[in-house]
Amino acid sequence: MCGIVGYVGGQSALDVIVAGLKRLEYRGYDSAGVAVLADGGLASARRAGKLVNLEKELADRPLPAGATGIGHTRWATHGGPTDANAHPHLDNGGRVAVVHNGIIENFAALRAELAARGHHLGSETDTEVVAHLLAESYSSCGDLAEAMRLVCRRLEGAFTLVAVHADAPDTVVGARRNSPLVVGVGEGEAFLASDVSAFIEHTRSAVELGQDQIVEVRRNGITVTDFDGAPAEVRPYHVDWDASAAEKGGYDSFMLKEIAEQPRAVADTLLGRIDAEGALTLDEVRIPVPELRAVEKVVVVACGTAFHAGLIAKYAIEHWARVPCEVELASEFRYRDPILDRRSLVVAISQSGETMDTLMAVRHAREQGAKVLAICNTNGSTIPRESDAVLYTHAGPEVAVASTKAFLTQLVACYLVALYLGQSRGTTWGDEVRSVIRDLAGIPAALERVLAAVEPVRELARSLADRNTVLFLGRHVGYPVALEGALKLKELAYMHAEGFAAGELKHGPIALVERGLPVVVVVPSPRGRSVLHGKIVSNIQEIRARGARTVVIAEEGDDAVVPYADHLFRIPAVPTLLQPLVATVPLQVFACELATARGNEVDQPRNLAKSVTVE
Ligand code: F6R
Repeated sequence: MCGIVGYVGGQSALDVIVAGLKRLEYRGYDSAGVAVLADGGLASARRAGKLVNLEKELADRPLPAGATGIGHTRWATHGGPTDANAHPHLDNGGRVAVVHNGIIENFAALRAELAARGHHLGSETDTEVVAHLLAESYSSCGDLAEAMRLVCRRLEGAFTLVAVHADAPDTVVGARRNSPLVVGVGEGEAFLASDVSAFIEHTRSAVELGQDQIVEVRRNGITVTDFDGAPAEVRPYHVDWDASAAEKGGYDSFMLKEIAEQPRAVADTLLGRIDAEGALTLDEVRIPVPELRAVEKVVVVACGTAFHAGLIAKYAIEHWARVPCEVELASEFRYRDPILDRRSLVVAISQSGETMDTLMAVRHAREQGAKVLAICNTNGSTIPRESDAVLYTHAGPEVAVASTKAFLTQLVACYLVALYLGQSRGTTWGDEVRSVIRDLAGIPAALERVLAAVEPVRELARSLADRNTVLFLGRHVGYPVALEGALKLKELAYMHAEGFAAGELKHGPIALVERGLPVVVVVPSPRGRSVLHGKIVSNIQEIRARGARTVVIAEEGDDAVVPYADHLFRIPAVPTLLQPLVATVPLQVFACELATARGNEVDQPRNLAKSVTVE
């Protein structure tokens, strides 16, 4: 949700910042802007729309060269996506420039106060007040970091702020409360950014900023304090992926690349978690086994696609660990006064580790005494930092706004947590754990087979580009897969898409079925839970009898579905609980191709942003 870059060093600040913004554009693409310190002053440019509009503006009206600057790519909150609302925001004297991610909740009061003191504010944003307050504070204290501390103490809400002042030419100052901000430390240069991808081509040495901290970055070092000026401890870390991981690598979109990376992402997430005997080792989950044994309920909190991973986790946790499991949308969780205590284990799933709804759920859970285990893809992000333990997924950077490889790795992590809980509580042991681990180890190869066979899915997607509605049905773990298939289609193709539990159809939704309506059905394995299989085959017949065009995703060798499938896509046979890992992939490809056929940009769907840092 908004991408921020700051730079000070020996290179052209503008080049570094625009390249960084390109990598952060997934965070928001309503407008973009830059400001550089040059010739004793401050020069800036900003444009509504995607970064390319700003690049055109900079080509038409170049800014003077400078070695210190800031940039921003915006996901609009306060004020529409116009030039005037684009960041950076400047004070009336044009000496201070500020970029911001988050929401300043008391901005209306601050704005009125500034207006009363004669300031003119030209935008509808909450951010602009900060530029004016900083200018005032700087003129009284003459130090940008101190001015930022004074201003932050007055702000309410969630914010990352990065600022420069024309009178402090080799300095960029950042502040962080709730929204992400990382520092990159290079040779004679330093960076500030919403995530490391913005500076990974320059340095892999990063420093994590904590909550309510201020950082002053200069060419030769950084200083971190809290909002009162007390020195703060910093945690340096090495970024263990390189710039190529954040490039398209020959694919038309990041989404296609990330779909193709899923076999590796799954394999990497299993890596190091299985010992030589094929048993599960999760030493990183630093919650003592007696505490895991004492857990009386598990609550999974997450949003969007991660929530769908949570729905599948419930089946695995209840099956292997025999402990009741609830799954809750993080945005609803704390508002219904959930019953939690120290015998509750909350599992928070988040790719970014920054989703505000999930973060607030984590805080609420810990306040009630629950233990929180995060499942996260982003090292050093806020949710793992504020949790009792973390199990990192190793999907690598996910750039496309629609989550794909992060989802599959979240599923793997959920299965591992379920097995680990079962192992710790003595409900699943030895041979069974080893057998599931063997099945999981076979998933990357199964995914390769799914990916090799998706061309017919693409063809079908293209043929449906003019449709308005697609329904998705599933049972058991296939139900969350249906929800995920529908979410992907909504967010990418902007179509009406809904997922239903197939058994619920007859309780209402079947009224939607009309001649030619495409209905995608995820069919459980005919082995093992054959009752479920028989029931869904009946559901397919019911909708087909009412004219639906059935698109069936079924296991290789499942012949019972053949007579009722207008389109049949095969997936490898895997144990029922693991089927979402292979069944989701054709649905991702379906949504991606359909969106492309409708002329939509799959990596940056309208109105969305990758990391949602507002509630
Ligand atoms: C959909 C999608 C979103 C995210 C959701 C949570 O494709 O990506 O629904 O899953 O915003 O994000 P994280 O996992 O970062 O907390």
